[in-house]
Amino acid sequence: MTITDFLFEIVRKLDPERAHLLTIQALKLGITPRYSNNSDGALISEVFGIKFQNPIGLAAGFDKSAEAFYSLDKLGCGFVEVGTLTLKPQAGNERPRVFRLEEDQAIINRYGFNNDGLSRAVKRLSKRVKSTGVLGINIGINKDSTTPIADYEEALRIVSPLADYITINISSPNTPGLRDLQSSEKLEKLLRSIEKSRFENEVQILTPPILLKIAPDLTEKEIKEIAQIALKTGVSGLIVSNTTVTRPSFIKGNRRSEQGGLSGPPLFELSTKKLAQTYLACKGKIPLIGVGGVDSAETAYAKIRAGANLVQLYTALTYRGPCLFKSINDGLNLLIKNDNFRNVQDAVGIDAKYWADKKILN
Ligand SMILES: Cc1cc2nc3c(=O)[nH]c(=O)nc-3n(C[C@H](O)[C@H](O)[C@H](O)COP(=O)(O)O)c2cc1C
Repeated sequence: MTITDFLFEIVRKLDPERAHLLTIQALKLGITPRYSNNSDGALISEVFGIKFQNPIGLAAGFDKSAEAFYSLDKLGCGFVEVGTLTLKPQAGNERPRVFRLEEDQAIINRYGFNNDGLSRAVKRLSKRVKSTGVLGINIGINKDSTTPIADYEEALRIVSPLADYITINISSPNTPGLRDLQSSEKLEKLLRSIEKSRFENEVQILTPPILLKIAPDLTEKEIKEIAQIALKTGVSGLIVSNTTVTRPSFIKGNRRSEQGGLSGPPLFELSTKKLAQTYLACKGKIPLIGVGGVDSAETAYAKIRAGANLVQLYTALTYRGPCLFKSINDGLNLLIKNDNFRNVQDAVGIDAKYWADKKILN
């Protein structure tokens, strides 16, 4: 057992929020193993005009306040998405607000966008040096926001000089009213305003690609509407998906009825089906990031074959530990070669129809 495995086992025994805070502190201090972020050229790709050393990224919510980006970047992932960050600092919901469902290797959380706020995060991120990996910044709105569109525009202006890409989060289940922004009328208004605010005198001043993160609980009709709006408003990509408010009948963990968003393996099939539906609705014209229940090379590859150009994970990292990115990338490389693909991007969407129509247990 390595020292990292030993520390990981200790942390895993703590209450999940304390375990997370401790992990962030350790990462801030640089107490972290290092893994290479590229096992083979077959995993390198260019998506949204950005070069990724490998397609497996860390999803939003792990480094909410952009404190540990520099260490996370060394775990062998292809990219790190920090946030969700809001304009003002926010304490989030009352504790306890995150629960492990050990039997299902899953998590339910109702954090409610606890974060240090954009100005502190910006100070941290402005020290970033060019040699670090791809950085996504995920932005949301404060719980008491009465001007969501203006808030997203302002957040976008603030993070644009720092981010390689920006994610507009309208899908977290723990901020009242947030997910209503996914309705076609509100979404079109939001995205049109955002697109307009990126230009001054018809010159684009804010340049990073903008991605939209959506919920797995949308119907196929809603996904089609979102895809159409995304295509006509210049969104660069979609992230499918956030956590689910549904509780599949097969989950066993005794905290299953806690309120909040469910993540991990029980979300895999649902989020992969929604990913494939999004891929077909976008006709492959917008790159997608597939998230939800990825815990192995096989599940990452399934996301890619269902339509994802890139993949993210969070929950599995808390159960499997920091060597996960490397083991997924090594396995993915073999799976791609076994299927005679020269590059990971050649496999994107091959099983989209199968996944979009798949009857899933929920
Ligand atoms: C504890 C926890 C906190 C999260 N916080 C955020 C967040 O702040 N913003 C966000 O967009 N997604 C957040 N997520 C959702 C993840 O980014 C991801 O979409 C979801 O967990 C599904 O992936 P997974 O099954 O690999 O965890 C959070 C997830 C977890 C488990």
